[in-house]
This record gives sequence, C-alpha cells and structure tokens, in this order.
Amino acid sequence: MIVTIDTKKCRCKETKLCASVCPYGFIWDLDENNYPRVKQALENYCIACGHCESICPTDAIKVGTLATPPFRYDKKIKIPAEHVELLLKTRRSVRTFKNTPLPRVELEDLLDIVRWIPTASNKQQVKWMVIDSKEKVQQISQLTIDFIKQSNMAKEIVEYYELGDDIILRNAPHLIIALGEKEYFWGSAEAGIALTYLELYAHAKGLGTCWAGFFTRAATLYQPLIEYLDLPHNHSVCGAIMLGHPVFKLHSIPFRKELDVIWR
Ligand SMILES: Cc1cc2nc3c(=O)[nH]c(=O)nc-3n(C[C@H](O)[C@H](O)[C@H](O)COP(=O)(O)O)c2cc1C
Repeated sequence: MIVTIDTKKCRCKETKLCASVCPYGFIWDLDENNYPRVKQALENYCIACGHCESICPTDAIKVGTLATPPFRYDKKIKIPAEHVELLLKTRRSVRTFKNTPLPRVELEDLLDIVRWIPTASNKQQVKWMVIDSKEKVQQISQLTIDFIKQSNMAKEIVEYYELGDDIILRNAPHLIIALGEKEYFWGSAEAGIALTYLELYAHAKGLGTCWAGFFTRAATLYQPLIEYLDLPHNHSVCGAIMLGHPVFKLHSIPFRKELDVIWR
C-alpha cells in the first residue's frame, strides 16, 4: 500500500480532506469505521504526490514511496510577493564567471531544489549530469564548435571562438545538464521547469547562470559530443545551464516587451 493511514491519529473521518485533494479522488472510499482509505483495487492510480499527506492536519497519513521525509516549514512565515517579484525580475543571464569552482557540497545543495518541481503524473524522472571542471567544460565547448563548423551555421560564432573567446560556455566552471528519457513526451518541459528552478535558486544564492543553447542543440545532434558525454542508456540532453560565481553586479532591470495576451 503506497498510502498508509494511522486511524489513531485520523480526526476528520468522513470529511476526507485527504481524498478531496487527491488528483484521483475516485480511488478513495471509507472503511467499515468511516475512516478514509485508498481502495486497494485502484491504488495503482496513486501517483504518490503526497497531497493527502500534506493536507492532513493530524499527520495521520504517510505516502510510502517518497524517498525522503517531507519538507516541514513554519506556516507562519509569509513570503512577501514583492521579494519574489524582485528575485524573478533581477535574474539575468551571467556570461562572465570567476575562476572559482563551487565545492561539491554546494553543487549538491543547489541541485537539490529541482526535486520540488512539478512533473507529469509526479514521475520525477529528470536525470542530471554535472560537469564539474572548467577543463571538461572547455572540451565540451570545443565539441560544440566542431558541430557548428560542420553544420555550416553561425560562422561568426566560430570566428569569435577561434579568436580565443569561449562564446559557447563562457569559461564557466560548471555545466549542469538535464537529461530525459528518449521518447518521453514531457522530457523537455520538465527539464525546462527544473533548470528554471535551479537558475532562480542560484540567483537567490548570489550565483550566476546562463542557458547553454548552442551546447543543447549540439548535444542532441552531434555524435562525437554525445559520445563524450557518455549518457545513460536511452537518455538524451533536454537542456543545460552554465553555472558559477558572477564577476559583475548588475544595476538595473532591462526593458521587456509588452505582455502579449488574448483575453476571451
Ligand atoms: C533556451 C535558451 C537558450 C539560450 N542559449 C544561450 C546560449 O547558448 N548562450 C548565451 O549566451 N545565452 C543563451 N540564452 C540566454 C538568452 O540570451 C537570455 O536569456 C536573453 O537574452 C534574456 O536575457 P536575460 O536572461 O539576462 O534576462 C539562452 C536562453 C534560453 C532560454
């Protein structure tokens, strides 16, 4: 059973708060004592999202497949919307990084945030690859340039690169790569969400990131780069960001296009 209910702790009985927040509420019914329970025959509809566990005011529910204990937080803490707005609006792409790599423990702490992203049917299957040295990042830049050269696109990029400027991965000390299973429909969407979480969290910690578009394209098409990355079986690159300590501080928020919205 994925969902276990401690009926000694359960207080709301037939109000079934747990069932009412379940994405598949029809899998719940009441047992002989009117306590909510997941119908055994339908339990494989459970996506282990943990909403039943989160809503239970008496901590009576545990969702057994969750890998780590739930994140507990002080419900009295209010997150001011203006702080969130500031975080979102001041995030910028960083393209000049200090020559100081992040220690493994900091990388782990940063990456951990992606476990909280939404994923289709709560599958949580984005995989990660961390390129953790500048030398390896530079080799990947070179392979990306080889791809651009042989596909005859963006000559200026190649010329600029050959002048000595790593326009591909910007001499970043790290490259964080999101991988998805080939053929998985939501792979790119979930990688995009995850990388966005990562980039915003990095910004909150004073770190800098930049999406690695050239690399991502090359890594889906160019065999020597795919081989260099030695991807896990049946996985492909869905997106990537460069990461490091930014050299510069920015002082203003840029112009953006007007919102383009169709109201019906
Ligand atoms: C999918 C995607 C791919 C990108 N690829 C690159 C890239 O390869 N190199 C780069 O310097 N910037 C890249 N960027 C950064 C954009 O140029 C940048 O987000 C945009 O100019 C807005 O600037 P800002 O991020 O500072 O607000 C990419 C951004 C996205 C979302």
